[in-house]
Amino acid sequence: MPPVQRTPLIAGNWKMNLDCAGAVALARDVARHAAGARVDVAVFPAFVHLDAVQRALRADGLALTVGAQDCSDAPNGALTGEVSLAMLQDLGCNWVLTGHSERRHVIGESDDVVAAKTAAALRASFTCVLCIGEKLEQRERGETDTVNERQLRAALKGLDAQACTNLVIAYEPVWAIGTGRVASAADAQAAHHAARRVLSDILGRETAARTRILYGGSLKASNAGELLAMADVDGGLVGGASLEAGGFGAIIDAAAGLAHSA
Ligand code: 13P
Repeated sequence: MPPVQRTPLIAGNWKMNLDCAGAVALARDVARHAAGARVDVAVFPAFVHLDAVQRALRADGLALTVGAQDCSDAPNGALTGEVSLAMLQDLGCNWVLTGHSERRHVIGESDDVVAAKTAAALRASFTCVLCIGEKLEQRERGETDTVNERQLRAALKGLDAQACTNLVIAYEPVWAIGTGRVASAADAQAAHHAARRVLSDILGRETAARTRILYGGSLKASNAGELLAMADVDGGLVGGASLEAGGFGAIIDAAAGLAHSA
């Protein structure tokens, strides 16, 4: 198999933060910083800010990938509050997160719901950032790799390599999200390596080798260099530290020039 280069991807998950003007201003700053960086950069604003952010970027001639934090797996219908993939496409948005731990553990999405959303997003040619990760008690019981494997197998059930061309994985240990506790570089590498082996088993070696696996959980400028240097850490999904252009820009800079090959 010829060597595959994985371009680093730094993604900002803005969660339920910012007002519309703040989201637009931050997107502009991030886009300016990302211009010319040898790194893919994406931001995930709240649904209600997607249109304004994209219009502002277009008006300024700025390029930045803008994705949604969630989607429905249904095409349309009586689903109050839900947002379909077609609605997102209509805004020119074709990236989406699925299975974020806050949706799994706070909102209560099951593995089946995550699987349905992931399959629907990939079927609609979205780039889908599928999030996985263990809770603290699972880590303490030594179940990190088992939990990640279960979540990957459940979410990708019935999908083949062809369907997963636009798949990105984000490993986000739940205990590291928003807590300031970050996985050690060695622990992150071990979890990513194990997840890639599972991907290889499900989707084949070639797809596993080119699928980017991001780390998320208290990633910030001061720890990004060490984590992103690990062989199977292909970028980051950043929460808190993505809400400030300077800090997020420093994470982008830390990723620059770190393309991993397999
Ligand atoms: P923090 O970077 O705030 O820990 O959040 C990580 C996350 O959940 C990104 O999706």
